[in-house]
Amino acid sequence: MRTKPEMMGQLRPAFSELNISEGFEFDTEIVTNEIKEDCKPLLLSNEQLTTLMKDMNDAINKGLSKDTNPSSVVKCYVTYVQDLPNGTERGKFLALDLGGTNFRVLLIELGENNYFHMDSEIFKVPEYIQTGKGTELFDHIAKCLAEFVKKHNVDSTVTLPLGFTFSFPLRQVGLTKGYLNSWTKGFNCSGVVDEDVVRLLKEAIRKRKGLNLQVTAILNDATGTLMSCAHKTRYSKNCFVGLIVGTGCNACYVEKVENAELFDGDSSKPYVIINTEWGAFGDDGKLASITTKYDREIDELSLNAGCQRFEKMISGMYMGEIVRLTIVDLANQKKLFEGRLSDQMKTKGAFGTSFISDIESDKANYKETLKVLNEMGISDPSLVDCANVRYICECVSRRSAHLVSAGLAVLLNKMNEKSVTIGVDGSVYRFHPYFHKLMVEKTKQLANPDIKFDMMLSEDGSGRGAALVAAVAVRDELPKMNGVAAV
Ligand code: BGC
Repeated sequence: MRTKPEMMGQLRPAFSELNISEGFEFDTEIVTNEIKEDCKPLLLSNEQLTTLMKDMNDAINKGLSKDTNPSSVVKCYVTYVQDLPNGTERGKFLALDLGGTNFRVLLIELGENNYFHMDSEIFKVPEYIQTGKGTELFDHIAKCLAEFVKKHNVDSTVTLPLGFTFSFPLRQVGLTKGYLNSWTKGFNCSGVVDEDVVRLLKEAIRKRKGLNLQVTAILNDATGTLMSCAHKTRYSKNCFVGLIVGTGCNACYVEKVENAELFDGDSSKPYVIINTEWGAFGDDGKLASITTKYDREIDELSLNAGCQRFEKMISGMYMGEIVRLTIVDLANQKKLFEGRLSDQMKTKGAFGTSFISDIESDKANYKETLKVLNEMGISDPSLVDCANVRYICECVSRRSAHLVSAGLAVLLNKMNEKSVTIGVDGSVYRFHPYFHKLMVEKTKQLANPDIKFDMMLSEDGSGRGAALVAAVAVRDELPKMNGVAAV
């Protein structure tokens, strides 16, 4: 099949009549001009991205400075993680990973010669718990932890260090103390904002018998990703950035202690990881000029209206919905499917972000696009409809990748290291067929050309990372661990 311009006039060519060749590459020739026109606000020029970079850089500096931090939307929390793994970490560690619909418990063993063993289990966090009482959330976590420990015969006579990956904006005041600033993504539990999350976890654990552990670190998934990537590259490469493009979006980076004005930890060590929480960039209106009507609608109908505006343009929790809203709007204007829409297509949240990856993975004949549209209740789209839908997906995912690239370029320019490895995790980055390529291309265009960088998929950042932060924290004290008091 070639997407010839003359097909534009043909309303509904049957797919079976088309001469489909292998290696089909999507081109935009048959995408209708009106769709291209309507999607224009989603295409960001380098000029727009450069303006955004300047604003993001200012927002990060504002977050780092003691005087301006309270009014900054990008909070730049200090993580109290100052050391990367060096390979001498040994022992067994528990890790908890909370950040999305799934909650995980992990048991990790680190040994000689890079020995690494991991057992893990996934538990659901039902929606009623995600938006219920905070005490119920932490009781649920402790219950899952107890089940895991029992099932895996964890020796209860030894106190195990535990790292807790808590992937929400946390104002940390120490490696084991942090106050929740606000919930994000699908969470909104009562009684947790402004509370010390480690205290809530410990209280829930205390209610259960037989759990012998010590919470030695709380961290963000971006930090976990950076640590896990630093561990994997065997401590030789400059893994200085951790990035998450999954249900949510965030990045952390290594900053000089003297620039992190709110840091009150060990200033004899030169660096500390900063959790930027850049998802909140734009909450002061700095993204207004590139915000579309679909972005506004998503925001207004979300659990946290007015918050996480950058994240809402990028992450997996919202991308599919942006595509759906665009499709519905254009179909209502009779620019798609001759104006016909299904109930599914009209249902909020029904078009998952994974559908974007499926559609953009199409190699030939729009097979995947057809499958997705059929699943969404659109049974007989035309070829042009398919091309249009794919184009919408491309515009939305491209915008997402380019916004992340602008953020990355800010961090790279800011650190100004000759060479940086960026550890990346998250379902969007993992499963979208071109996200990596789009990000590398655009970051190259936007960052200082003297800076070399590479992006690597960090294996299981939030799980491994939690164990590694816990391991680094107790690295020099391990022999003492058996004797420490439990939580
Ligand atoms: C949270 C971050 C987290 C990111 C990715 C955001 O919604 O605020 O803390 O790192 O999602 O999970």
